[in-house]
Amino acid sequence: MKMKWMGVALSTVVLGTAAWAAPPKSSPAMIEKGKTSYATNCLACHGEKGLGDGPTGQYLNPKPRNFAAEPFKNGNKPEEVFKTLTTGIPGSTMVAFAQLPEEERWALTYYVLEFQPKPAKAEKKGAKKGKKK
Ligand code: HEC
Repeated sequence: MKMKWMGVALSTVVLGTAAWAAPPKSSPAMIEKGKTSYATNCLACHGEKGLGDGPTGQYLNPKPRNFAAEPFKNGNKPEEVFKTLTTGIPGSTMVAFAQLPEEERWALTYYVLEFQPKPAKAEKKGAKKGKKK
């Protein structure tokens, strides 16, 4: 009897952890939050429009990513951008922002992805020329 209840408690813990690891959904409120945080933490380097031309950014080498025109070397899926924000990019001035609350890092992730050209967000893989349906 006792053992059975322990099993229930254990599976609740495991499932709870899995649910927490899932990324929150993007929403207008989330993007608004990201915009506020971006102005404080990112704009100086990445620029108001995400073109990598902020007041500090223009003097850096390597230059900050132009979110609208350049590919992300660590990937542009939300989970990948979130990871970049959490760990930073070694060897560049793109430092880790792990000190920001997790929710704020997700908000920044979605805000950054707003700068990307729309077709890139649709993520069409294998769209090679000459491949007929
Ligand atoms: C001190 C300047 C600086 C600040 C502040 C800064 N970045 Fe960066 N960021 C960079 C540089 C430089 C790179 C390019 C690094 C490279 O090419 O190796 C970069 C790259 C990136 C990339 C591209 C990652 C990839 O996979 O290519 C993302 C996304 C990014 N930054 C997001 C942010 C966000 C969001 C913030 C604010 C929380 C921020 N950055 C703050 C300098 C900065």
